[in-house]
Amino acid sequence: MDTQTADSAFIRACRRQPVSYAPVWYMRQAGRSLPEYRATRAGTAMLDACSNPDLITEITLQPVRRYGVDAAILFSDIVVPLRAVGLDIDIRPGVGPVIDKPVSDDGDLARLRDLEPGDVAFVSRAIELLTAELGGTPLIGFAGGPFTLACYLVDGGPSKTFDRTRSLMYGNPELWRALLGRLADITISFLTVQVEAGASAVQLFDSWAGIVSPEDYRRSVLPYSRRIFAALAATGVPSIHFGVGTGELLGLLGEAGADVVGVDWRVPLDDAVHRVAPGKALQGNLDPAVLLAPWPVIEERARAVLNKGRMAESHIFNLGHGVLPDTDPDMLARLTDLVHSVPAGPAR
Ligand code: CP3
Repeated sequence: MDTQTADSAFIRACRRQPVSYAPVWYMRQAGRSLPEYRATRAGTAMLDACSNPDLITEITLQPVRRYGVDAAILFSDIVVPLRAVGLDIDIRPGVGPVIDKPVSDDGDLARLRDLEPGDVAFVSRAIELLTAELGGTPLIGFAGGPFTLACYLVDGGPSKTFDRTRSLMYGNPELWRALLGRLADITISFLTVQVEAGASAVQLFDSWAGIVSPEDYRRSVLPYSRRIFAALAATGVPSIHFGVGTGELLGLLGEAGADVVGVDWRVPLDDAVHRVAPGKALQGNLDPAVLLAPWPVIEERARAVLNKGRMAESHIFNLGHGVLPDTDPDMLARLTDLVHSVPAGPAR
C-alpha cells in the first residue's frame, strides 16, 4: 500500500490511529440507489457485470465521485468466487443468489474445488485499474463468510432463517465441517487475490451469522472465520468483520481476529464497546431506513451515532447494513459532508 493510502483517515481508523474526523463509507454504496449505476448496468446481467473489469471499475468509482466517501468497495458479489469454481449459481434480479443443485450430501462437496487466481483474473485486473484511478483513496476488497455462503449453497436461495442450513449444521457435523472448511479455503484464496492486486483493506460479510446461537457460533462458525483472519493477518492489510443481527455474537466476532468489528443498527455503539474485547475499532451503524426520513431526522440520528462512536477506541462511520435501493443519493452526499464536518475527539 502506498504512503498516501496508508495515511488515509480510513486506514488510520482501522488501525486505531488518531484521525481528525470519523472516516465514512457505505455498505452497498455501489448499486441500485444510483441512477448512473442503473444506466451502466442496463442490459447486462449482474454476474456478467461482476466479470467485466471495465464495468467493475466504473461502478466502483461511481459512489466515490458522487459522495466523496473515504473508501471505495469493489463492485462484486459474495457468490462470485463460487461461480468462478464452477457452481451453477446465478443472481436473480430483485431476489438474490440462487443455485441449481443445493448442497445436501458428501457427493456435492466434490463440486467445490479450490479457487485459483486465474479463475478470477477479471477481479485482479479491475483492482489494478482501480488502484491507479483511486490515487490515495483506499479500496476495500471483500468476500462472504463461510456461514453466509453455506446459507445460499444449502438452502438454495434467499431465506429469512435458512432452516435447511441450520439443520445440516446440527444433523451432519462432519459434512458441515468439510463444507465450511472448503468455503474458508476459497474465501482465503479470493481475498488474497484481491490484496495481491492492490486492495488496501478487506471486509468479511458474514451477513447471516446472526441466525445462530453464541454456542453454535463458537463451535460451528468461529473456527472458519478465525482461519480466514489469521491468513489475512499475514498480508498486513486491515480487516473488517460484519454480520446482521449479531448483537449476541459481537464478542465472538471480535475473537475471530479482524481489526474492525461491524455493528448493525440494533446495538448502540456505546453498548457494542462493552460487548467486544479491547483492541478493536468499531464500524457502523446508522439504520439504513433512517435515510428514507426527512433530513433533520437523518442529521439528528447521524450525530447520535457519531457521539456514541466516540466511546470506541476508533470509529468508522457506516450504515448498520446496506444502502436501501430507494435511498435518495443526495441524502448520502449530505450525510458524508456532515460526518466529515464533525471533529473526532473525546466523548462529549
Ligand atoms: O457497494 C457495495 O457494497 C459493493 C457491492 C456488493 C454487492 N453485493 C453488489 C450487489 C456487496 C458488498 C455485496 C455483498 C453481498 N451480496 C452480501 C453481503 C452484504 C449484505 O448485504 O449483507 C450478500 C448477502 C449478497 C448476496 C446478494 N446479492 C443479495 C442478497 C442480493 C440482493 C438481491 C436484490 O436484487 O435485491 C444480491 C444482488 C446484488 N449484489 C446487487 C448488487 C448491486 C443487486 C443486483 C442488481 O443491481 O440487479
